[in-house]
Amino acid sequence: MKDNVIGLLNKDMEGEHAAIIQYLVHAYAMGEGEMACEIEAIAREEMRHFDWLAETIVGLGGTPTITRGEMRTGGETVPAWMANDVEAEEDAIAMYTEHLKAIQDPDIKRLLRRILSDEKSHRLSFQHFVSKARKKGAGDLRGSRRDKTAEVLNWGIEHEYTVILQYLLHSYMSRNDEVKEEMQDQAINEMQHLGWLSEELVSGGGTPRIEHTGVDRSKKTANMLRADIKIEKEVAAEYDRASREMDDPGLKRLLTRIRDHEIYHAELFTDLLREEEGKA
Ligand SMILES: [Fe+2]
Ligand SMILES: [Fe+2]
Ligand SMILES: [Fe+2]
Repeated sequence: MKDNVIGLLNKDMEGEHAAIIQYLVHAYAMGEGEMACEIEAIAREEMRHFDWLAETIVGLGGTPTITRGEMRTGGETVPAWMANDVEAEEDAIAMYTEHLKAIQDPDIKRLLRRILSDEKSHRLSFQHFVSKARKKGAGDLRGSRRDKTAEVLNWGIEHEYTVILQYLLHSYMSRNDEVKEEMQDQAINEMQHLGWLSEELVSGGGTPRIEHTGVDRSKKTANMLRADIKIEKEVAAEYDRASREMDDPGLKRLLTRIRDHEIYHAELFTDLLREEEGKA
């Protein structure tokens, strides 16, 4: 029974994950503007759903999934994308409705009802965006730029997406409360990086490729931290190298700023590791 519930909640997480990335892809492709901001705000609400589901799964003794469900990425125009987002919300509404029937636990039911009510409100927002985008003639700002700069930015995007998932997973799986909290915080910081790099790439005529590489699945907190420190040190060096190669001062500043954050992360994780090792 419990395994069945964990399975259903993990399906919900896959759906949330797909929605987050689908909405971010759309928001970034539209560039700056009111509608893009509102879509990003919806993506942030889906991230909270993702978190709540993960914590519930951990409470049941399960492992939250970082598998992404299927995204609806077709469509050439903004109204077509918004119609895809309406469909994504309809899928979510159908799934939560079904899972509410299948799950008996009153606390989990309460959570799913809360999420379901958010999804209904999101569906309404996206329906509005379909007509708003039609009126405004909003377009796809992405281009086909594939030079060195675009490559560096897409490398950064891939890295940031990977560590977001890794730190979230570590925050869910660690039993050290301080580590849990810091991992959540730094995952949010990496989401900022993902947004900055994607917006920079779109404004420069490129297309963000939001895919990730392998995520560390250590079971022990100390091993999680070792993996996190390693990746931070590698990318701090890589951002440093890339920032030196950039001629554009704005781009240089952006990469240097991210580099400084990554150095901070590496130091913070090193302190946490020292404390964790002290406990053992
Ligand atoms: Fe959601
Ligand atoms: Fe980062
Ligand atoms: Fe980092």
